[in-house]
Formats: sequence, structure tokens, C-alpha cells
Amino acid sequence: MQSTPSLSSKDMNRIAELENVITKLQEQILMAERKEQALRTAIDIFEAKSKKKPLLDSLNESLREEHEPGWTELLDCRAIDSIKIAKNIAEGHTKTVQEGELMGKRVAVKSASIKGKDVKRCLEDGLHKKDGECYLLANYKVLKEIMVLRQLNHRNIANLLGMCVRSENSSPAITERGVTLVVEIGEPVQLHKLMEMDWPSRVQICIQLAALLEYLAESSMGSIALPDVRDEQFVMIDNTIKLTDVDDIFATEPNCDNSMKCLLDGKETGIKCGSSKKCNGLNAFSNLQRLMAVFFAPLLKEGCPTEKQEEVDAILNKVKNGEMDAGSMEILLQGFLK
Ligand SMILES: Nc1ncnc2c1ncn2[C@@H]1O[C@H](COP(=O)(O)OP(=O)(O)O)[C@@H](O)[C@H]1O
Ligand SMILES: [Mg+2]
Repeated sequence: MQSTPSLSSKDMNRIAELENVITKLQEQILMAERKEQALRTAIDIFEAKSKKKPLLDSLNESLREEHEPGWTELLDCRAIDSIKIAKNIAEGHTKTVQEGELMGKRVAVKSASIKGKDVKRCLEDGLHKKDGECYLLANYKVLKEIMVLRQLNHRNIANLLGMCVRSENSSPAITERGVTLVVEIGEPVQLHKLMEMDWPSRVQICIQLAALLEYLAESSMGSIALPDVRDEQFVMIDNTIKLTDVDDIFATEPNCDNSMKCLLDGKETGIKCGSSKKCNGLNAFSNLQRLMAVFFAPLLKEGCPTEKQEEVDAILNKVKNGEMDAGSMEILLQGFLK
């Protein structure tokens, strides 16, 4: 056996310096990619103007083509007032979710819940004394969900259909409610139901989730983190899994800790502390780990054909160790369906 030559402290310093240079170069590449994207948008805008097409039409057209074939104008308060509430679907941490009917179509109607955990916790923690004041916080989160859905557009995120913002009221009557959000309706996801699907269909779900994570990592808002991943935050619509609960997301990378480390749930991640003292890439890594526990590991391991087991384990291990991103995972998973 050959023994590895030991490194002098000078060598070690040189390696540390080179690693620093590499981190800085990686950050520059990221910045350059963002600039390129901004330039492409500017060119699109310029071309739209020179073709004398209304700018918004052109942008909407490109959005429609790229992401969502059913992109239409948003429902306003008047249209939302005419929604007939059919039943309550769920009482979430923050929101009441109901099924409504508008012009023969089923929609999901979300508004702040006075009975939800957020309002309860706010009262228990003594943040405010009155229900109404704590309800404002829940209303803020519905507003945040509206604005986040307005900024994001992907086939694996529930499509925003409309919104109405007119007061701080809570009311069972839709015409009296302060803040209402309408999204496409789906079937709330339950992991045990997904586990009943055959293996290729479960791979298909994982491909979609990997595509979603790839989009979130590169979103126009920044790299988005999903801090709390549970199956019930997703719905199924025509064999497509869609994220529906986005009121807790954030799109700034965490700062490094005092010893310049990038930790996730108190554990080291191997992600380098950037020159701006930010953990660039930590949000994307954390999303992969959280979806690994809730979806990827159970859906891909159970019932995996014997001849594919080794490859599946290799993919899951690489993702766990931060050696594979969502985009590469998506491509490799697609290989299983060929
Ligand atoms: N678009 C939808 N279609 C059908 N059911 C939904 C939809 N969005 C949410 N739900 C159901 O309502 C529950 C609460 O919604 P969610 O957005 O997660 O609220 P919260 O942030 O209050 O937890 C979900 O767990 C899911 O069961
Ligand atoms: Mg929520």
C-alpha cells in the first residue's frame, strides 16, 4: 500500500487560499448567470416593443408558454363574492380552506383562520391580548401567500386564480371577509395514499418534486427555502403534485454562524461560508433534505425493482451528502422511466 505524503502547513494554507478563490469564482459565476437572465428578459422586452405588441401581452404569452397553459386574468373581489362555498376542506395552521364553486368550476378558497394554531400561539405567547390583533398576523400570512403565488409560476405550484383584499375582518360570509385568496383546487396529498401507487408513478412524483426544487433554487425572488415540509402542504391535480402552502417560505440564504459554519438543524452541511457571510446554497440543500425525509426516500425505496435498487440508493446517498442537486436528480430519475 502507498502511504499518502503528509502536507506541510504551508501546503495547507495554500489549499485554504485556493478554496477561497474557488468559492469567490463560484459566486461570480452565479452573479454572471443572474445578469445573463436579466439581459435575456431585457432583450425580450425590447423585441416585444419593436414588434409593437403590448408589453404585458408579450410577457404573459411567454409566461403562459413556459409554465402554465391555463394562465388567465385574476378574479377580483366582485367575482370572488359570487363564489358559492360548498364545504370546509381543512383548518390549517394559519388558514381556513374551503371548496367553492364559480361558474360551474370548483375552486379552493383560503382565508385567515381565527381558530388556527397561529392565532392560538399568538394569544398563548401573549404577543397580543385580543383575538382581532392576533388575527392580523394570520391575515398578513394570507397576504404573503397571495404575493408569493403572484411572483412564482410553475406547474408544481398551485395556480393563483384570484384575490380580494378589502379589510381586516373575519367572517363566515365571503362578501364580508377581509382577505381572500382563490387557488386551483386539488386533492390534499397523504403520503400513505402515494405509497399505494405503483413504483413508476411514484418516480414520476419525485421527478416533479425535483423539478419544483430546481425552480425554487433559481426563482426570481432568490433561492427559496421551504422551512416546514409536510405531505399535506401539497395537493394532487390530474396526476400533478403541486405545492399549495407557501406562507412560511423565505428567499434569503441564512447567515453563517459565529464560527463561519453553515449548519442545518445544528449539523454541519459542508457548505462554505461565502465572502458575504452568507451560506449560499443552504436553502436548496435544506429543501432537498426535507423532501428526502418526507417524499424521496419513502417513495423511491419501497417496492423499487431489484435491478434498480443500487442506482436508487446511490442517488439518494449523493443527495443526502450534498453531492447532487435537484436538477441532476430529476434527470437521473427520468432515466428510470425510459
Ligand atoms: N388548493 C387546495 N386544494 C384543496 N385542498 C387544499 C388546497 N390548499 C390547501 N388545502 C388543504 O387545506 C389544508 C390547509 O392549507 P394550508 O395552505 O396548508 O394552510 P396553513 O398554512 O394554514 O397550514 C392543507 O393541508 C390541505 O389539506
Ligand atoms: Mg402555512
